[in-house]
Amino acid sequence: SSITSAYDPSEQVQTVAHRGASGYAPENTMAAFRKGVEMKADYIEIDVQMSKDGELVVIHDTTLDRTTDGSGNVKDHTLEDLRRLDAGSFYSPEFAGEKIPTFEEVIDEFRGNGILIELKAPHLYPGIEKKVAAVLKKRDMDKPANNKIIIQSFDFNSLKITNELLPDMPIGALTGNKDDLTAAKLKEFSAYCEYVNPYLGNVTSEVVDSSHSYDMGIMSWTVRKQEEVQPLLNAGVDGIITDYPDYVPQHKQ
Ligand code: G3P
Ligand code: CA
Repeated sequence: SSITSAYDPSEQVQTVAHRGASGYAPENTMAAFRKGVEMKADYIEIDVQMSKDGELVVIHDTTLDRTTDGSGNVKDHTLEDLRRLDAGSFYSPEFAGEKIPTFEEVIDEFRGNGILIELKAPHLYPGIEKKVAAVLKKRDMDKPANNKIIIQSFDFNSLKITNELLPDMPIGALTGNKDDLTAAKLKEFSAYCEYVNPYLGNVTSEVVDSSHSYDMGIMSWTVRKQEEVQPLLNAGVDGIITDYPDYVPQHKQ
């Protein structure tokens, strides 16, 4: 990898607020990101997709039905249409009026915090890597010295493109697949990644040690129960991605 060591082995485990503090507020909304920061999460995690008119938006599903009062594909709606939707009421009436955030509004408000950017289903959005790269470059946010940002995806091809566009940016390979955690696969990832971010059920101390031996950190997902935390700490992970940032004990409170 082009970056010697993006994770700091001496650092305490990093708490990542998954889709924001999504256990306490509607996922991928400004309310959830603010809650994550308020709960002292080291990073907020965001899912980035693209509107019909090419604007970057923050939402998890490729369809609107579950988390908004709209329906159909994200990619078939203009930004103006998407911004009219309610992305808070599905969680609780208390959050009525929360909107689908734009990528730019999230990074502008939270650039002082860590941001774990997921390129979600990038095969649906040709050119999304270039758009994300341009937004970050414009703000001088493409250098790890300036801020704490990682770009991750389940789509490894998209990560390779991102690594070409942003050679200094820490990259994370997301995987729910055990077969992606063999020494051979980890070595392959280490050519363009600084992190490998596996499903928590696939984390062992061997996997952590092996990733570290290739100079990659490990952030695993998704903690939704208190009892899932300790085994990950025992295995030696570098980050815990969770809907409940307060479940992670080693955090700056
Ligand atoms: O950050 C890891 C996690 O977000 C990956 O799964 O489906 O929640 O985007 P998902
Ligand atoms: Ca995600």
